[in-house]
Amino acid sequence: MKLLVTGGAGFIGSAVIRHIINNTEDQVVNLDKLTYAGNLESLAEVSGSNRYAFEKVDICDRAAVDRVLREHQPDAIMHLAAESHVDRSIDGPADFVETNIVGTYTLLEAARQYWQSLEAECRKNFRFHHISTDEVYGDLEGPENLFTEKTPYAPSSPYSASKASSDHLVRAWHRTYGLPVLVTNCSNNYGPYHFPEKLIPLVILNALEGKPLPVYGKGDQIRDWLYVEDHARALYEVVKKGAIGETYNIGGHNEKKNIDVVQAICDLLEEYAPEKPPGLALYLDLITFVTDRPGHDHRYAIDASKIQKELGWIPKETFETGLRKTVQWYLNNQEWCRRVQDGSYQRERIGVGE
Ligand SMILES: NC(=O)c1ccc[n+]([C@@H]2O[C@H](COP(=O)([O-])OP(=O)(O)OC[C@H]3O[C@@H](n4cnc5c(N)ncnc54)[C@H](O)[C@@H]3O)[C@@H](O)[C@H]2O)c1
Repeated sequence: MKLLVTGGAGFIGSAVIRHIINNTEDQVVNLDKLTYAGNLESLAEVSGSNRYAFEKVDICDRAAVDRVLREHQPDAIMHLAAESHVDRSIDGPADFVETNIVGTYTLLEAARQYWQSLEAECRKNFRFHHISTDEVYGDLEGPENLFTEKTPYAPSSPYSASKASSDHLVRAWHRTYGLPVLVTNCSNNYGPYHFPEKLIPLVILNALEGKPLPVYGKGDQIRDWLYVEDHARALYEVVKKGAIGETYNIGGHNEKKNIDVVQAICDLLEEYAPEKPPGLALYLDLITFVTDRPGHDHRYAIDASKIQKELGWIPKETFETGLRKTVQWYLNNQEWCRRVQDGSYQRERIGVGE
């Protein structure tokens, strides 16, 4: 199988590509615009494979997307390219509307034309897998409720509204044009190669430098954390075996308050990096409560029983094992972090002719 992965230089996309190249015989074409969030250094261990190809393309550029589809003739598309950071969407929503909505529309139209041009057998097997977020469901009320695939959409931020829009477009392209689509909505991911603007890597790296660990409000927002390699495995199961037209929720069964996540990281750092910056007694002392994000959802939690029942997927990592691996990864890969933080990953793109 040849898979076209959009956003393959990002956090989750690169985990998907590493999973496919390392564990299957499939081929991958990585289509990515390389925004600030795209880092080809996250693919260094697999980019030498003859089953991997890279195309620096914007999903909003219809002619370029058409060319990639024509030249590579993929059997399926896994669509992860997006603007993904909620805080950035509050400061500047335009890029989110452009990439997440217009870009998904452009990709859907290109995919539809390509799919219609395929021979009958390839047309029958083709699939368009749209990767989305549990944030489209909005805030959960009560401690027991879970998001199911039938939960109505109620997005709160420009980011989640743009992802909700893209989900609706994907389903409409199935219903109206018969495009064979799959949709997955996933909870918060964490793990290796996560861009340091997101909570877990930010806390690890700030703590190591003795900088404040910012926590929104009282830190009592609850998220369901999923280890990124478990997510990559789930996405591969869905694109291979998922039923066309279906949606699958993917979650880690790991509901945690943000403040508990930050404290757990501090405890792991006490264990693995006890030599602290001068004057610092405990990493916990760096925790600083900051004004809450506007429109901040209080709780997200996923019911992932459908993907477990129908495709046999369950996460391998608990939050404790996954967080331990993540902290160890950041400690062992400080060069990757340094190059992201000082911008050199963008100035010296490997494998890109620019
Ligand atoms: N990170 C999470 O916790 C999480 C949870 C659920 C769902 N998701 C979804 O999973 C997908 C991937 O998330 P991520 O965390 O890996 O994001 P990311 O921000 O790390 O990566 C996004 C990638 O998309 C690329 N990209 C952005 N705009 C593009 C464009 N116009 N054309 C081509 N490429 C473009 C970037 O260069 C980058 O490589 C997103 O669709 C996101 O909404 C993420």
